Amino acid sequence: MDYTRINAKTWDRWSSDNWIWTVPVTHETYVSALKGEWEVLLTPTVNVPKEWFGDLTDKKVLGLASGGGHQGPVLTAAGADVTIMDLSDAQLATEKMVAEREGYAINLVKADMTQRFPFADDSFDLIFHPVSNCYVADIAHVWRECFRVLKPGGRLLAGFTNPDLYLFNDADSVADIRVVNKLPYDSLANLDKPSQKKRVAEEGYQFSHTMERQIGDQLKAGFLLKDFYEDFTTDDSYTLSHYFPLFFASLAVKPADPHNI
Ligand SMILES: C[S@@+](CC[C@H](N)C(=O)[O-])C[C@H]1O[C@@H](n2cnc3c(N)ncnc32)[C@H](O)[C@@H]1O
Repeated sequence: MDYTRINAKTWDRWSSDNWIWTVPVTHETYVSALKGEWEVLLTPTVNVPKEWFGDLTDKKVLGLASGGGHQGPVLTAAGADVTIMDLSDAQLATEKMVAEREGYAINLVKADMTQRFPFADDSFDLIFHPVSNCYVADIAHVWRECFRVLKPGGRLLAGFTNPDLYLFNDADSVADIRVVNKLPYDSLANLDKPSQKKRVAEEGYQFSHTMERQIGDQLKAGFLLKDFYEDFTTDDSYTLSHYFPLFFASLAVKPADPHNI
């Protein structure tokens, strides 16, 4: 089976285990968003600055690898016409459950971001892409597809993991932290090692990517970088979060006229 299908099954399992990134927003959160009080996350703990969105009224928004009923309901309540693309049946089912519970229409698309996205060129005003490109090997492809399906002037909001996180073991205390992987981490490599097999069975196939791939390849795809922040993820479940930021978020724009920037 393709590694991305195995990752989708991993997300289905995490959904039945009610892992935090699979638990949807509450009715109260949706109602607050209808009143204009809302926040969304690209990374675990820092709210995305509101100016990154601009006015969302009637804007076509793609939630890329964004199933699970987190951003879809909130951005819909904020006025956007939202499409959620994800590869996990369970994450899409949760998105559908929230839409039915709250009584709004949403476009749900099961698709693999390692393939051509199933949308025409210039389809969206904004792409919201929370931390998820750690599940795909070739992110240059993802940035190029984002560029293609965004309208000129469209925005790409992306969250991603600090690659340095993959250097270390998953330690419960600082005293147990060890350097265990060479970067960039690629779980398709060294699959013959028992430790690697165990990690893949638990967390799916993951890839650390370099900053050159994360930022340089957005620029090579044609985007202009507009803003950037770090998320220290002040959450005790991440031992390393007390030492360096574990996640990053970027705002990039597809130039309105690529020949005149
Ligand atoms: C961390 S979750 C992000 C969604 C969540 N709404 C959030 O707020 O964080 C990562 C998502 O990426 C999806 N995913 C992983 N690999 C994918 C792929 N190749 N194509 C599309 N979606 C993928 C997973 O199914 C999962 O829903």
